[in-house]
Amino acid sequence: MLNIGIIGAGRAGRLLALALHRAGWPVTGIFSRTQESAGRLAGAMGAQTVDAIAGLPALCDLILIAVPDDAIASVSSALAQFGKLAGRIIVHTSGAHDSGALVAVAQAGARTGSLHPAFAISDEAYALAHVHEATFAVESDDASVRAVLFGLVHAMGATSVEIPPGMKAQYHAATVIASNYLVTLYAASAGLLAELGIDRKAAAGLLEPLMRAALGNIAAQGVPAALTGPIARGDAGTVARHIAALADRADTILEMYQVMGRATLPLAQARGLDAALIDALRTTLKG
Ligand SMILES: NC(=O)c1ccc[n+]([C@@H]2O[C@H](COP(=O)([O-])OP(=O)(O)OC[C@H]3O[C@@H](n4cnc5c(N)ncnc54)[C@H](OP(=O)(O)O)[C@@H]3O)[C@@H](O)[C@H]2O)c1
Repeated sequence: MLNIGIIGAGRAGRLLALALHRAGWPVTGIFSRTQESAGRLAGAMGAQTVDAIAGLPALCDLILIAVPDDAIASVSSALAQFGKLAGRIIVHTSGAHDSGALVAVAQAGARTGSLHPAFAISDEAYALAHVHEATFAVESDDASVRAVLFGLVHAMGATSVEIPPGMKAQYHAATVIASNYLVTLYAASAGLLAELGIDRKAAAGLLEPLMRAALGNIAAQGVPAALTGPIARGDAGTVARHIAALADRADTILEMYQVMGRATLPLAQARGLDAALIDALRTTLKG
Protein backbone atom coordinates (compact mmCIF):
# COMPACT_ATOMS: atom_id res chain seq x y z
CA MET A 1 0.00 0.00 0.00
CA LEU A 2 1.21 3.49 -0.81
CA ASN A 3 1.77 6.02 1.97
CA ILE A 4 -0.65 8.88 1.42
CA GLY A 5 0.01 12.58 2.01
CA ILE A 6 -2.57 15.36 2.05
CA ILE A 7 -1.95 19.01 1.21
CA GLY A 8 -4.89 21.18 2.32
CA ALA A 9 -6.79 20.03 5.41
CA GLY A 10 -10.11 21.55 4.34
CA ARG A 11 -13.38 19.89 3.38
CA ALA A 12 -12.12 17.70 0.52
CA GLY A 13 -8.73 16.94 2.09
CA ARG A 14 -10.29 15.93 5.40
CA LEU A 15 -12.92 13.71 3.75
CA LEU A 16 -10.34 11.89 1.62
CA ALA A 17 -7.93 11.46 4.54
CA LEU A 18 -10.62 10.20 6.91
CA ALA A 19 -12.27 7.89 4.34
CA LEU A 20 -8.94 6.41 3.19
CA HIS A 21 -7.75 5.96 6.78
CA ARG A 22 -11.03 4.21 7.59
CA ALA A 23 -10.49 1.98 4.54
CA GLY A 24 -7.10 0.93 5.94
CA TRP A 25 -4.80 3.06 3.78
CA PRO A 26 -1.84 4.62 5.62
CA VAL A 27 -2.24 8.41 5.67
CA THR A 28 1.23 9.37 6.83
CA GLY A 29 1.76 13.09 6.19
CA ILE A 30 -0.35 16.25 6.29
CA PHE A 31 0.54 19.79 5.25
CA SER A 32 -1.87 22.71 5.30
CA ARG A 33 -1.68 26.48 5.15
CA THR A 34 -2.10 26.57 8.93
CA GLN A 35 -0.56 24.15 11.42
CA GLU A 36 -3.86 24.18 13.30
CA SER A 37 -5.82 22.54 10.43
CA ALA A 38 -2.98 20.13 9.68
CA GLY A 39 -2.62 19.12 13.33
CA ARG A 40 -6.36 18.56 13.81
CA LEU A 41 -6.50 16.18 10.84
CA ALA A 42 -3.21 14.42 11.60
CA GLY A 43 -4.36 13.82 15.17
CA ALA A 44 -7.44 11.94 13.92
CA MET A 45 -5.27 9.25 12.28
CA GLY A 46 -1.81 9.32 13.78
CA ALA A 47 -0.25 11.02 10.76
CA GLN A 48 2.67 13.45 10.93
CA THR A 49 2.42 17.10 10.08
CA VAL A 50 5.25 18.92 8.34
CA ASP A 51 6.23 22.57 8.84
CA ALA A 52 7.14 23.03 5.18
CA ILE A 53 5.68 21.45 2.05
CA ALA A 54 9.19 20.18 1.14
CA GLY A 55 8.96 17.72 4.03
CA LEU A 56 6.02 15.80 2.58
CA PRO A 57 7.54 13.79 -0.32
CA ALA A 58 9.92 12.07 2.11
CA LEU A 59 6.92 10.74 4.05
CA CYS A 60 4.54 9.89 1.21
CA ASP A 61 4.36 7.99 -2.10
CA LEU A 62 1.04 9.51 -3.17
CA ILE A 63 0.21 13.16 -2.44
CA LEU A 64 -3.36 14.46 -2.76
CA ILE A 65 -3.48 18.25 -3.21
CA ALA A 66 -6.84 19.47 -1.89
CA VAL A 67 -6.34 23.25 -1.89
CA PRO A 68 -8.54 25.88 -3.61
CA ASP A 69 -8.27 25.61 -7.40
CA ASP A 70 -6.32 28.86 -7.73
CA ALA A 71 -3.64 27.63 -5.28
CA ILE A 72 -2.88 24.33 -7.09
CA ALA A 73 -0.23 25.75 -9.41
CA SER A 74 1.67 27.51 -6.60
CA VAL A 75 1.53 24.38 -4.39
CA SER A 76 2.80 22.36 -7.36
CA SER A 77 5.68 24.84 -7.89
CA ALA A 78 6.56 24.74 -4.18
CA LEU A 79 6.68 20.90 -4.27
CA ALA A 80 8.73 20.94 -7.48
CA GLN A 81 11.40 23.09 -5.80
CA PHE A 82 12.04 20.11 -3.52
CA GLY A 83 13.17 18.28 -6.64
CA LYS A 84 13.24 14.64 -5.58
CA LEU A 85 9.81 13.62 -6.86
CA ALA A 86 10.68 10.63 -9.08
CA GLY A 87 8.42 7.71 -8.20
CA ARG A 88 5.89 9.97 -6.44
CA ILE A 89 2.29 10.21 -7.62
CA ILE A 90 0.86 13.71 -7.18
CA VAL A 91 -2.82 14.33 -7.75
CA HIS A 92 -5.18 17.25 -7.18
CA THR A 93 -8.88 17.13 -6.33
CA SER A 94 -10.21 19.94 -8.51
CA GLY A 95 -13.14 19.27 -10.81
CA ALA A 96 -12.40 21.97 -13.36
CA HIS A 97 -8.64 21.41 -13.86
CA ASP A 98 -6.87 18.39 -15.26
CA SER A 99 -3.41 17.07 -14.46
CA GLY A 100 -1.94 19.84 -16.64
CA ALA A 101 -2.24 22.07 -13.54
CA LEU A 102 0.56 19.95 -12.04
CA VAL A 103 3.09 20.59 -14.82
CA ALA A 104 5.73 21.81 -12.34
CA VAL A 105 5.80 18.53 -10.36
CA ALA A 106 5.58 16.50 -13.58
CA GLN A 107 8.74 18.28 -14.80
CA ALA A 108 10.36 17.37 -11.48
CA GLY A 109 9.71 13.66 -12.13
CA ALA A 110 6.33 12.99 -10.48
CA ARG A 111 3.52 11.08 -12.16
CA THR A 112 0.37 13.21 -12.07
CA GLY A 113 -3.41 12.98 -12.25
CA SER A 114 -6.61 14.36 -10.82
CA LEU A 115 -9.24 12.76 -8.61
CA HIS A 116 -12.48 14.69 -8.20
CA PRO A 117 -15.25 13.57 -5.86
CA ALA A 118 -18.53 14.42 -7.65
CA PHE A 119 -19.98 15.09 -4.24
CA ALA A 120 -20.90 18.27 -2.34
CA ILE A 121 -18.68 18.08 0.76
CA SER A 122 -20.03 20.40 3.41
CA ASP A 123 -21.15 18.51 6.54
CA GLU A 124 -18.25 16.16 7.34
CA ALA A 125 -20.25 13.51 9.20
CA TYR A 126 -22.77 13.32 6.35
CA ALA A 127 -19.99 13.18 3.75
CA LEU A 128 -18.16 10.36 5.57
CA ALA A 129 -21.37 8.37 6.00
CA HIS A 130 -22.28 8.74 2.31
CA VAL A 131 -18.92 8.82 0.50
CA HIS A 132 -19.49 5.24 -0.74
CA GLU A 133 -22.47 6.58 -2.75
CA ALA A 134 -20.27 9.10 -4.58
CA THR A 135 -18.66 8.82 -7.98
CA PHE A 136 -15.07 10.05 -8.39
CA ALA A 137 -13.74 11.37 -11.71
CA VAL A 138 -10.30 9.92 -12.44
CA GLU A 139 -8.07 11.65 -14.98
CA SER A 140 -4.47 11.02 -15.94
CA ASP A 141 -2.57 10.32 -19.14
CA ASP A 142 -0.60 7.68 -17.16
CA ALA A 143 -2.37 4.30 -16.94
CA SER A 144 -0.44 3.34 -13.80
CA VAL A 145 -1.72 6.48 -12.03
CA ARG A 146 -5.28 5.76 -13.15
CA ALA A 147 -4.98 2.22 -11.76
CA VAL A 148 -3.84 3.53 -8.35
CA LEU A 149 -6.69 6.09 -8.26
CA PHE A 150 -9.29 3.46 -9.22
CA GLY A 151 -7.94 1.40 -6.30
CA LEU A 152 -8.32 4.29 -3.84
CA VAL A 153 -11.90 4.93 -4.94
CA HIS A 154 -12.73 1.23 -4.74
CA ALA A 155 -11.27 1.10 -1.20
CA MET A 156 -13.69 3.87 -0.13
CA GLY A 157 -16.56 1.78 -1.54
CA ALA A 158 -17.23 4.48 -4.15
CA THR A 159 -17.49 4.39 -7.95
CA SER A 160 -15.09 5.78 -10.57
CA VAL A 161 -15.55 7.29 -14.01
CA GLU A 162 -12.66 8.15 -16.28
CA ILE A 163 -12.46 11.61 -17.86
CA PRO A 164 -10.06 12.12 -20.80
CA PRO A 165 -7.36 14.75 -20.20
CA GLY A 166 -8.52 18.08 -21.65
CA MET A 167 -12.21 17.38 -20.92
CA LYS A 168 -12.37 18.22 -17.22
CA ALA A 169 -14.01 21.64 -17.76
CA GLN A 170 -16.93 20.04 -19.61
CA TYR A 171 -17.20 17.34 -16.92
CA HIS A 172 -17.16 19.98 -14.17
CA ALA A 173 -19.78 22.15 -15.92
CA ALA A 174 -22.05 19.08 -15.91
CA THR A 175 -21.63 18.61 -12.15
CA VAL A 176 -22.19 22.34 -11.47
CA ILE A 177 -25.49 22.28 -13.40
CA ALA A 178 -26.76 19.26 -11.46
CA SER A 179 -25.51 20.24 -8.01
CA ASN A 180 -24.95 23.99 -7.58
CA TYR A 181 -27.76 25.11 -9.86
CA LEU A 182 -30.19 22.85 -8.02
CA VAL A 183 -29.57 25.13 -5.04
CA THR A 184 -30.18 28.15 -7.31
CA LEU A 185 -33.46 26.64 -8.51
CA TYR A 186 -34.54 26.03 -4.92
CA ALA A 187 -33.64 29.61 -3.95
CA ALA A 188 -35.60 31.03 -6.91
CA SER A 189 -38.69 28.97 -6.01
CA ALA A 190 -38.46 29.81 -2.30
CA GLY A 191 -38.10 33.51 -3.18
CA LEU A 192 -41.30 33.48 -5.25
CA LEU A 193 -43.14 31.68 -2.42
CA ALA A 194 -41.79 34.18 0.16
CA GLU A 195 -43.42 37.00 -1.83
CA LEU A 196 -46.74 35.19 -1.26
CA GLY A 197 -46.16 35.19 2.51
CA ILE A 198 -44.90 31.58 2.68
CA ASP A 199 -42.02 31.57 5.19
CA ARG A 200 -38.75 29.61 4.89
CA LYS A 201 -39.97 26.64 6.93
CA ALA A 202 -43.24 26.32 5.03
CA ALA A 203 -41.37 26.75 1.72
CA ALA A 204 -38.96 23.96 2.71
CA GLY A 205 -41.94 21.73 3.55
CA LEU A 206 -43.44 22.45 0.15
CA LEU A 207 -40.30 22.33 -2.02
CA GLU A 208 -38.22 19.54 -0.50
CA PRO A 209 -40.77 16.73 -1.09
CA LEU A 210 -41.42 18.15 -4.57
CA MET A 211 -37.71 18.08 -5.44
CA ARG A 212 -37.11 14.70 -3.78
CA ALA A 213 -40.04 13.23 -5.77
CA ALA A 214 -38.54 14.54 -9.02
CA LEU A 215 -35.18 12.94 -8.12
CA GLY A 216 -36.98 9.74 -7.10
CA ASN A 217 -38.84 9.68 -10.42
CA ILE A 218 -35.58 10.19 -12.33
CA ALA A 219 -34.04 7.27 -10.40
CA ALA A 220 -37.10 5.05 -10.95
CA GLN A 221 -38.11 5.97 -14.49
CA GLY A 222 -35.15 7.77 -16.06
CA VAL A 223 -35.23 10.76 -18.43
CA PRO A 224 -37.45 11.83 -20.17
CA ALA A 225 -40.12 9.57 -18.56
CA ALA A 226 -39.75 11.39 -15.20
CA LEU A 227 -40.78 14.76 -16.70
CA THR A 228 -44.16 16.05 -15.46
CA GLY A 229 -45.79 19.50 -15.65
CA PRO A 230 -47.19 21.84 -18.30
CA ILE A 231 -44.39 21.37 -20.83
CA ALA A 232 -44.70 17.57 -20.64
CA ARG A 233 -48.47 17.99 -21.20
CA GLY A 234 -48.18 20.64 -23.93
CA ASP A 235 -50.15 23.25 -21.90
CA ALA A 236 -48.94 26.41 -23.70
CA GLY A 237 -51.75 28.43 -22.06
CA THR A 238 -50.46 27.60 -18.57
CA VAL A 239 -46.90 28.45 -19.58
CA ALA A 240 -48.17 31.82 -20.91
CA ARG A 241 -49.87 32.49 -17.54
CA HIS A 242 -46.57 31.73 -15.74
CA ILE A 243 -44.70 34.15 -18.03
CA ALA A 244 -47.30 36.88 -17.42
CA ALA A 245 -47.01 36.32 -13.66
CA LEU A 246 -43.20 36.64 -13.79
CA ALA A 247 -43.08 39.65 -16.16
CA ASP A 248 -41.77 43.04 -15.03
CA ARG A 249 -39.39 41.64 -12.41
CA ALA A 250 -35.98 43.17 -11.82
CA ASP A 251 -34.37 39.76 -11.16
CA THR A 252 -33.45 36.94 -13.57
CA ILE A 253 -36.34 34.60 -12.74
CA LEU A 254 -38.36 35.16 -15.95
CA GLU A 255 -35.22 34.65 -18.07
CA MET A 256 -34.40 31.50 -16.06
CA TYR A 257 -37.95 30.18 -16.51
CA GLN A 258 -37.82 30.74 -20.28
CA VAL A 259 -34.34 29.25 -20.76
CA MET A 260 -35.16 26.19 -18.62
CA GLY A 261 -38.48 25.86 -20.47
CA ARG A 262 -36.76 25.86 -23.86
CA ALA A 263 -34.22 23.33 -22.56
CA THR A 264 -37.15 21.14 -21.48
CA LEU A 265 -38.76 21.04 -24.96
CA PRO A 266 -36.50 18.23 -26.32
CA LEU A 267 -37.49 16.11 -23.31
CA ALA A 268 -41.20 16.67 -24.04
CA GLN A 269 -40.53 15.83 -27.69
CA ALA A 270 -38.73 12.63 -26.68
CA ARG A 271 -41.79 11.71 -24.58
CA GLY A 272 -43.83 11.90 -27.81
CA LEU A 273 -45.51 15.31 -27.42
CA ASP A 274 -47.20 16.41 -30.64
CA ALA A 275 -45.00 18.61 -32.90
CA ALA A 276 -47.68 21.36 -33.12
CA LEU A 277 -47.79 21.58 -29.30
CA ILE A 278 -43.99 21.78 -29.17
CA ASP A 279 -44.11 24.67 -31.68
CA ALA A 280 -46.77 26.47 -29.61
CA LEU A 281 -44.66 26.07 -26.46
CA ARG A 282 -41.52 27.27 -28.28
CA THR A 283 -43.33 30.42 -29.44
CA THR A 284 -44.67 31.06 -25.91
CA LEU A 285 -41.22 30.57 -24.36
CA LYS A 286 -39.39 32.96 -26.73
CA GLY A 287 -37.77 35.79 -24.77
N1 LIG B 1 -15.93 20.90 -0.99
C1 LIG B 1 -16.36 20.20 -2.01
O1 LIG B 1 -17.56 19.89 -2.12
C2 LIG B 1 -15.41 19.68 -3.07
C3 LIG B 1 -15.83 18.58 -3.83
C4 LIG B 1 -14.98 18.08 -4.80
C5 LIG B 1 -13.74 18.68 -5.00
N2 LIG B 1 -13.37 19.76 -4.26
C6 LIG B 1 -12.05 20.35 -4.58
O2 LIG B 1 -11.17 20.21 -3.48
C7 LIG B 1 -10.28 21.33 -3.44
C8 LIG B 1 -10.40 21.96 -2.07
O3 LIG B 1 -11.73 22.41 -1.89
P1 LIG B 1 -12.37 22.46 -0.42
O4 LIG B 1 -13.83 22.67 -0.62
O5 LIG B 1 -11.89 21.34 0.40
O6 LIG B 1 -11.73 23.82 0.09
P2 LIG B 1 -11.55 24.29 1.61
O7 LIG B 1 -12.54 23.64 2.50
O8 LIG B 1 -11.49 25.77 1.55
O9 LIG B 1 -10.14 23.73 2.01
C9 LIG B 1 -8.97 24.13 1.37
C10 LIG B 1 -7.81 23.91 2.34
O10 LIG B 1 -6.63 24.23 1.65
C11 LIG B 1 -5.74 24.83 2.55
N3 LIG B 1 -4.90 25.73 1.76
C12 LIG B 1 -5.25 26.86 1.11
N4 LIG B 1 -4.19 27.35 0.45
C13 LIG B 1 -3.16 26.51 0.70
C14 LIG B 1 -1.80 26.49 0.34
N5 LIG B 1 -1.29 27.42 -0.47
N6 LIG B 1 -1.03 25.48 0.80
C15 LIG B 1 -1.54 24.52 1.59
N7 LIG B 1 -2.81 24.49 2.00
C16 LIG B 1 -3.60 25.48 1.55
C17 LIG B 1 -6.55 25.55 3.59
O11 LIG B 1 -5.82 25.35 4.76
P3 LIG B 1 -6.02 25.95 6.21
O12 LIG B 1 -7.29 25.33 6.75
O13 LIG B 1 -4.83 25.44 6.92
O14 LIG B 1 -6.11 27.42 6.07
C18 LIG B 1 -7.90 24.80 3.57
O15 LIG B 1 -8.04 23.97 4.69
C19 LIG B 1 -10.68 22.27 -4.58
O16 LIG B 1 -9.86 21.99 -5.70
C20 LIG B 1 -12.11 21.86 -4.87
O17 LIG B 1 -12.44 22.10 -6.22
C21 LIG B 1 -14.15 20.26 -3.29
